[in-house]
Amino acid sequence: RLIRRGYHENIVEHYENPRNVGSLDKNDKSVGTGLVGAPACGDVMKLQIKVDENGIITESKFKTFGCGSAIASSSVATEWVKGKSVDEVLSIKNSDIASHLKLPPVKLHCSMLAEDAIKAAVKDWKEKSAAGVKVQVKQE
Ligand code: FES
Ligand code: FES
Repeated sequence: RLIRRGYHENIVEHYENPRNVGSLDKNDKSVGTGLVGAPACGDVMKLQIKVDENGIITESKFKTFGCGSAIASSSVATEWVKGKSVDEVLSIKNSDIASHLKLPPVKLHCSMLAEDAIKAAVKDWKEKSAAGVKVQVKQE
C-alpha cells in the first residue's frame, strides 16, 4: 500500500488504483458482509470486514458495481476501517469520505453507499458472532 506520512499522497490514486478490491469468505465466522444499493442510481456496493477476537478489523475488501466516486469511496472506506474496532467504524460518516475525496454535492450519495456498507458489514458480523461462538468483547 502506498501510504506516506499516514496518508496516500494523492486522492486521485483511489480513482485510478482502488485499494482492497476483492472478496473475503462470507461463510467465515469472523467475516461480516455488507451489501447495499443506492436507490438514486441503482449502483451496488459490497464491503466486507474480517474481525479478530478483540473486535478489531484486520482486513477489508470491497466490490462495487457503480460509478467512479462509489469505487473511490469504498476504497477509502476499506482503508479507514482497518485497525479500528467494530464500534469505532460506526462513526465513519459519508461526509468525511466525501470531503476527503472532494466529491461534488451530486456525488454525495456515492459516499453514502460506503457509510451504509460499513454499517451493514458490522451488523452482519455482530449477528453472526451472536449466533455462533461467543466473541470476547473488551469490557472495561
Ligand atoms: Fe487514501 Fe486518504 S487518500 S485514505
Ligand atoms: Fe450512483 Fe455514484 S452515481 S453510486
